[in-house]
Amino acid sequence: MTQRDLIERLPKAELHLHIEGSFEPELMMQLAARNRIDLRFKTLDEAKAAYDFSNLQEFLDLYYEGMQLLRTEEDFHDLTWAYLQRAAADNVRHVEMFFDPQAHTARGVPFGVVTEGILAALKRGEKELGVTSYLILSFLRHLSEEDGFALLKESEGWHDKFVGVGLDSSEMGHPPLKFERLYKRCRDMGFKLCMHAGEEGPPQYVREALIDIGVDRIDHGNRSMEDPALIQILKDTQTPLTNCPLSNLSLCVIKDLKDSPVKAQLEAGLMVTVNSDDPAYFGGYIGRNYEKTAEALGLSDAQIVTLARNSFTASFLPEAAKAKHSAAVDAAAG
Ligand code: ADE
Ligand code: ZN
Repeated sequence: MTQRDLIERLPKAELHLHIEGSFEPELMMQLAARNRIDLRFKTLDEAKAAYDFSNLQEFLDLYYEGMQLLRTEEDFHDLTWAYLQRAAADNVRHVEMFFDPQAHTARGVPFGVVTEGILAALKRGEKELGVTSYLILSFLRHLSEEDGFALLKESEGWHDKFVGVGLDSSEMGHPPLKFERLYKRCRDMGFKLCMHAGEEGPPQYVREALIDIGVDRIDHGNRSMEDPALIQILKDTQTPLTNCPLSNLSLCVIKDLKDSPVKAQLEAGLMVTVNSDDPAYFGGYIGRNYEKTAEALGLSDAQIVTLARNSFTASFLPEAAKAKHSAAVDAAAG
């Protein structure tokens, strides 16, 4: 079996995916026409040419611009449904999906429109594709902690629909401790805690997320590798890291996929997983992330299987479901 076949056959969970980052130019063009909105880009090629970033902020500017096209419940449904079909084709069996409500409510789209559209597609995904899902409410870290509290209040009617909360957007200058009180409240409410840290930010940001805030999962975490004592803590606690190799490459977090920390993290015994982040912008869904990473780093078959198994272990699924999926990984590995 080639590694490509192995990757295709392995059941996988995707734990780091921003649904707004799966907005493909084709769907953008369709929604622009449906909602009668003028697009800055007139052709698909023009739109794709803009996808050349040199840092996180350049990407975020385009990411927020693209979202302006999402207006109705149907739009959010169609976006989510398109992602789920692609994920299912890559043998993703479970997804834990971020969404950025503040990016929509700030431009007048009601929270319920966004959330109900996404939830309708997730329900359909489970029924028609057999892909289970959890939704993660993500706070924008360039906004204030008060804005985060306001979102928590606004979303009250839907709290049972979210497994946890996340923190994303511009990392530098917005350390985890800026959101200490908000995260304490979320923890007390029973939410799982995720946080982007160490994508561009220093190892200190990962330490704050892990030690001061006590998150359950670190999104990215690349720069942890600069701090040996932090690596030891990540190993001892088995705190999952949701790495996104093609995202790291596109946003110049690494210069070459050969510089991805995934292999070193596997060899150090960390609970690392491979994910797509914003697949429409970074050149690939989860299957391609596995393939390109395996190729660049020369991962062994056993390491690829470990990544697939980790994806379920690191999920927020109940233990019985994790065990069932892990058995399916072993069966597919042969
Ligand atoms: N929002 C969407 N993708 C992101 C990323 N890679 N980092 C921070 N915020 C994001
Ligand atoms: Zn992300």
